[in-house]
Amino acid sequence: MLISGAGRNLKAIIRACEDGRIAGRIVGVLSDRADAPGLQFARRAGIESRVVLASGFSDRSQFDAALLETLDAWAPDMVVLAGFMRILGADFVQRYRGRLLNIHPSLLPHYPGLRTHQRVLENGDAEHGATVHFVTEELDGGPAIIQGRLMVDPQDTEQTLAERVMQQIELRIYPQAVAWMANGALRLGENGPELNGRTLKSPRGLADLQEGF
Ligand code: GRF
Repeated sequence: MLISGAGRNLKAIIRACEDGRIAGRIVGVLSDRADAPGLQFARRAGIESRVVLASGFSDRSQFDAALLETLDAWAPDMVVLAGFMRILGADFVQRYRGRLLNIHPSLLPHYPGLRTHQRVLENGDAEHGATVHFVTEELDGGPAIIQGRLMVDPQDTEQTLAERVMQQIELRIYPQAVAWMANGALRLGENGPELNGRTLKSPRGLADLQEGF
């Protein structure tokens, strides 16, 4: 798993591995920040962690190569981006194509990029949410797997909206998507994500969560 920050998604996925909802284990956690609070969840769970600082490299492709070297040594079946705040280059994306997942706090294709909660409020949107998707070269543009939505409350601030999206959506849909990958139910097919052998015409939603997620 790749992180940069608080690590709430990492923590939720660690828990789901520990309680058996995800049929797999996390072989390593890589952070691009030495002070990422999420690293403590990895340490407490006895998961190997590494810090690779972008500042140690003169360009992005060298940084990507260093990330790949660390990841390849772990030989993961999938790579899970959980609040990893760096854009990965084409070599990286291609190496792990179909095995590389990301979560983004918006109803993609709406609001790729940063400050999603703020932009939703500025535009007066009625709905907001989060999306788990396969990563492609296009930023936040890969095929969506599962998307949870909620109604924006007129009283919402950026903070309350972000917190509700995290608690009610992200921490449920990401462990679920990883569980589907781990048990072989989910794969990236020629025409998009396939769940249980069927190409998804649209992303799954909160109603499709299995019990416990
Ligand atoms: C989440 O909102 C995720 O969707 C976004 O960054 C945040 C990471 O939070 N890409 P955390 O590190 O999992 O707590």
